[in-house]
This record gives sequence, structure tokens and C-alpha cells, in this order.
Amino acid sequence: MKDIVIIKTEEQVALMKEAAMLVSKTLTEVAKVLKAGMTTMDIDQLCMQFAKDHNGILSFYNYHGYPHNICASVNDVVVHGFPNNTPLKNGDIVSIDFGVILNGWHGDHAYTFILGEVAPEVLELVKVTKESLYKGIEKAIINNRIGDIGYAIQEHTEKQHGYGVVRELVGHGLGRSLHEDPQVPNYGKRGTGLKMKENLVLAIEPMINLGTHKVYTDDDGWTVRTQDGLPSVHFEHDVCVKKNEALILSDFSIIEAAEKANINLNSSYY
Ligand code: MF3
Ligand code: CO
Repeated sequence: MKDIVIIKTEEQVALMKEAAMLVSKTLTEVAKVLKAGMTTMDIDQLCMQFAKDHNGILSFYNYHGYPHNICASVNDVVVHGFPNNTPLKNGDIVSIDFGVILNGWHGDHAYTFILGEVAPEVLELVKVTKESLYKGIEKAIINNRIGDIGYAIQEHTEKQHGYGVVRELVGHGLGRSLHEDPQVPNYGKRGTGLKMKENLVLAIEPMINLGTHKVYTDDDGWTVRTQDGLPSVHFEHDVCVKKNEALILSDFSIIEAAEKANINLNSSYY
């Protein structure tokens, strides 16, 4: 099937920036208060309330029957973890993936937080996964191809560090729908796939495992875990393809500032 690619106008990109920023601001609220003892259900409620207070519509809730407002993926959970009432503990890593609709446009991004002390190899996995996202974003310029993004991410993570790049789940176009064409794999060949045009908006989201790339889905039909039980990291940005440099619509800098100011979180990988 041929991709149906929807290029946005400048006005629409500006609106999408607002939607992406509402997610960034929500994740910043999480970064301010997150600590061991909190549950992922607490985080779900915080995100729900903050988004509602800022006119956001919760986009994950009931998406293909998804039963929560956020995805909270702890340690060996790759993505789509259900929030629950188990307290987080020091040494956990947790990816919070959140989405809203604001003025008809989707924002969808994710950030992995570290609670207290984790093994150095996990700290490195978090650092390298975040770096790989930016290496992918560097390729999101006009006349490059979708495969260039995945190639850059795979080079940095699998080739350089021996990590596992999850194959089953991919990034995606973003707009009036949460998932638009094209799919954006975190692996692939340079010079292959769709040629990118200005104002194509993509959610780029490397899911990188410390060990094997292989994953399985729990009986709940959603929770994706690493097959070897080793941790997995997930970062996601919303980006707009431009001529010389992609425009990043979401913003990690406000999340990182809050993370640094929160003594219960570990940001020593900067
Ligand atoms: N960021 C996730 C993705 O792009 C959204 C989760 S889908 C939901 O796949 F069903 F959990 F909402
Ligand atoms: Co996404």
C-alpha cells in the first residue's frame, strides 16, 4: 500500500507545536514530582489533570481500546505499559509516553526518567538512546529518506554500542491523527523509503534494549517487554522536516531542567 502523506501548512505546524509543547509541559510536571514511592497510576492522574486544565484532550485513552491516559514502561517494559499501583523504587527507569489533542492536532512524546542509582550500563543506555534520537532527527531534512533516520539510530545504538533496536514498533507521521503515514523504523538502510518534504511532521521514537532486540507482548495485549528481561529505554520527539535542520516541536530542555532540580531523579548522564 502506498503511503498517504499529509504535509502541513506553516499555520498547522505552529498549532502542532502547541500540542507537542503541552505534552512537554506535562512531562515537566512529572519530572518535578517524580520519586520512589510514587506509583505510575499517580503519574497517570497527574498527566490527565494537567492536560485537561490546559484544554488538552487525552488521546491515548481508548485508542484502539487502550485503557489508560499514559503509557508507563518500567525497566524491562519497552512500551505501552499500563499504569498501576505498584510504587516505583530507586533504581527503576520509567518511560512516560503521553499524548494530547489540542485544537485538533496531536502531540505525542515520551521521556525516560531514572529514579536514584542505577547500574552504570543502564545510565549509558539512557544516554545513548537519547543521543540516537537526535542523530535520527538530524536526518529529518528535505530530500533525505525515511531510511536515513532509522539507519542513523541503528548505527549509534546497535553498531556502536551493541544494543538491541526493537523492530516490531516504529515511529510515525503525526497530525490530525495520532498515527499517520509514513512509518518511521529505528533501523534500516540509508537512501531507502519515502523522500521527505518540507513540513512533514514525524514522531521519532527509538526503543532501545540493553540486550536482545527481541520482545514479547503480555497477556493484557499491550505491555511489550524485552525477551531477556533486561531494561529498555524510549525517547520520543515530534519533529517537522525542514530544509537545513529539522524543527523539533516538543522540548526536552524544560523536562531536563526539572529533572536536574529534582534530587530524587538521576540526571548524572548529561
Ligand atoms: N506514543 C505511542 C505510539 O506512538 C502511543 C501509544 S498508543 C496508545 O505508539 F494506545 F497507547 F495510546
Ligand atoms: Co508515538
